[in-house]
Amino acid sequence: MRVLIVGSGAREDALSWRVAASPSCEAVYAAPGNAGTASRGENWAISATDGKALVQACLREKIDLAVVGPEAAIAAGVCDRLREAGIATFGPSRSSGRLESSKIFSKRFMQRHGVPTARAVAVHSLDGALKVLEEWNGECVVKADGLAAGKGVVVAPDVEAARGVVKEWYASGHIPGGGRDVLLEELLVGREVSIFAICDGRAMYPLAGACDYKRAGDGDTGPNTGGMGAYSPPVGFPKDMVDRVRERVLAPVLRGLLAEGESYVGILYCGLMWTGDGPYVVEFNVRFGDPEAQVLMPRVNGDFAQLLKSAADGALDLGTVSFATRACAGVVLATSAYPRSNTPLAGLCADVGLGADAHAFWGESALAADGTVRSTGGRVLTVTALGDDVARARANAYDAVRALAKRLGAAGALTYRTDIAKF
Ligand code: AMP
Ligand code: GLY
Repeated sequence: MRVLIVGSGAREDALSWRVAASPSCEAVYAAPGNAGTASRGENWAISATDGKALVQACLREKIDLAVVGPEAAIAAGVCDRLREAGIATFGPSRSSGRLESSKIFSKRFMQRHGVPTARAVAVHSLDGALKVLEEWNGECVVKADGLAAGKGVVVAPDVEAARGVVKEWYASGHIPGGGRDVLLEELLVGREVSIFAICDGRAMYPLAGACDYKRAGDGDTGPNTGGMGAYSPPVGFPKDMVDRVRERVLAPVLRGLLAEGESYVGILYCGLMWTGDGPYVVEFNVRFGDPEAQVLMPRVNGDFAQLLKSAADGALDLGTVSFATRACAGVVLATSAYPRSNTPLAGLCADVGLGADAHAFWGESALAADGTVRSTGGRVLTVTALGDDVARARANAYDAVRALAKRLGAAGALTYRTDIAKF
């Protein structure tokens, strides 16, 4: 099978790596790809959101399966374009993608279908927001409605702080994500965990779980980011966690999607808060997480490409795929300016091979003519390692980080959290 991976981050590098290792995969392409995907197949210089150009290239290259990674591509309707052209596509329609691209749509969907989630009020203006906050008590989570790369949520410790956030957003005219609408939400207390379900339009199956680290600094300090590290499987949750998520979250979501005429194909990423009362949905994403994909892919056994193809064909078949009992931890190496800005870094060593149980996946980057790598994103690499349990995976990942940091040629330019997967 000839597979296209759409996207350019470390998530797509990990997906491309796992797909390329699948027995059914004959060739793997990426659009636009990065330095990692270039090492195992052709990169096409096509934007992840350019549906028309992607369709043309897929037809020309006889692509059997397109796997769409980033939320921006899904929100731009890339999966719809590919499917209309008859290309088997793993990723949801733009319409289903609203579960992620609009926090207000997503909240209303959960309310309509009885999915446990925090109480929330949608507001459309500064006056509206201030009026709601007059009656608010305690903490308030302020969320911009649109896609904001993990940067559109502020957990305000009190009403005064929440007022400050909405005033700043509305007064500056720069609400993260570019919309006008904001969700004011009650704070959920518990531990966060993400469950990844695979869906073929008719059935939903929980594949695996992971925990990610969203804040920039050690000890969960500093601003929210796209994610600074992750580990899988989750530790410290009830043994029946997956069954409870299946019953309380996945079942009503699937019923709701079917009732609303949505044929959901792809990954449903359930971002959960595990409260005293079990799982509450903090957010849905309509794709694999980044960096969660980087810690899930090394745990996959079997023909992963075939699994994705079966879902894209509307006939999910778990086939030979299973998740290893071994754990995986992943640490993101970011530029010191991340998440404030993305600083290009040139002249990085392209050889990031680390041995059988450790991997380094490139973020946005390209191979230069001299064989070095130029990184263009804030998150430069995700370094992952397997281990018999999370503690060992963590130790192996940090050993790999230190080995790689020496070799990379970017001393001082990169930072990383030192407490990923630490309990
Ligand atoms: P989101 O983009 O909606 O996932 O929000 C980003 C992060 O903000 C989440 O991963 C949580 O850590 C935090 N967060 C969002 N909503 C809530 C909530 N209702 N209660 C507590 N924390 C939240
Ligand atoms: N790591 C969080 C996300 O991919 O949205």
